[in-house]
Amino acid sequence: MKTILVTGGAGYIGSHTCLALLGAGYRVVVAESFQNSKPEALRRVQELSGKEIGFAACDLRNKAEVEDVFDRFSIDGVVHFAGLKAVGESVVKPLWYYENNLSSTFHLLNCMEKRGIHLFVFSSSATVYGDPDTVPIREDFPLKPINPYGRSKLMQEEILSDFQKSRPEFRVALLRYFNPAGADRSGRMGENPNGIPNNLMPYIAQVAVGKRAKLSVFGKDYPTPDGTGIRDYIHVTDLAEGHVAALRCLEERSGMVICNLGTGRGYSVLEMVRAFEKASGRSIPYEICARRPGDIAVCYADPSRAETLSGWKARLGVDDMCRDTWNWQSQNPDGYPDEPTWKGSEKL
Ligand code: UFG
Repeated sequence: MKTILVTGGAGYIGSHTCLALLGAGYRVVVAESFQNSKPEALRRVQELSGKEIGFAACDLRNKAEVEDVFDRFSIDGVVHFAGLKAVGESVVKPLWYYENNLSSTFHLLNCMEKRGIHLFVFSSSATVYGDPDTVPIREDFPLKPINPYGRSKLMQEEILSDFQKSRPEFRVALLRYFNPAGADRSGRMGENPNGIPNNLMPYIAQVAVGKRAKLSVFGKDYPTPDGTGIRDYIHVTDLAEGHVAALRCLEERSGMVICNLGTGRGYSVLEMVRAFEKASGRSIPYEICARRPGDIAVCYADPSRAETLSGWKARLGVDDMCRDTWNWQSQNPDGYPDEPTWKGSEKL
């Protein structure tokens, strides 16, 4: 049974991926700083899986701390989620973004190289495509991110690609996510943003539950059927399964794989509002506002390569995403509670 180190494993996508990995028979060790997440997420991963996970409190920018994780646990592969991800913040604090996001990857790769560990799955983003000339977006489209966050993702992809070329035994999957949404079917795990949500789905969910008065719809003058932006929303459980499929794929083949993880279908902001109203039975008041700087009109994936390479494809749709987000949000209106006593298991 392989042991997978999941960095940022208490985050939204990380925690759902831990659950999927445990379900698929992997052992899981989480390295976390809880900068943008809560220990309770990991407690719930254990609760839902009925399995124990290994845990290391770790700031990935600190090389010695990363070394320590690899010394304490016998790791076979890494799924790397940890990183800063707010587009607006990255414009204001670019150095902070580059330093955080790049140094973590360097430290992980150095530790892996030293110990002969060859499996790496990287959490990348559709943001690396910037504003695409056409849709659906294929993996061979030009890479032209338009903000420091996106460029930090592309730089990490390039570092991983160069490293792979220099070490043929190193196997890496670059997974470019479209727009994650939804929550675990149980309602026990979901997205738990700090403060005011940046993204559409958690914002809608907080309006539905009464925490925010109304949604601001950023622009109704895009060249789309209803004038609002179109995105490819993908259920977080499908996304999590995409990581398991990528690991399985890397176990079978050498080299580097690059895959979009999306559904191949786009929905507008107003379509998402209506779908959420239907799922929750609540009305979502909204007002039309100016466009958000840096937003693009339309973005959706051609996800066929992932299916060809690994057999993975998204199974769940927008109604599932809205139902599960509402289930999570209505059961946990304030997100995860603080759980200061949780220490995690230092051994596996
Ligand atoms: N939107 C609103 N109101 C809000 C929030 C969003 O109208 O309060 C709109 C946006 O204008 C956009 C759509 O909803 O049309 C989706 O916006 P999100 O912020 O949820 O997602 P983005 O597509 O902007 O960005 C997301 C991630 C990025 C990632 C990118 C990849 O946040 O990290 O997808 O395409 F890089």
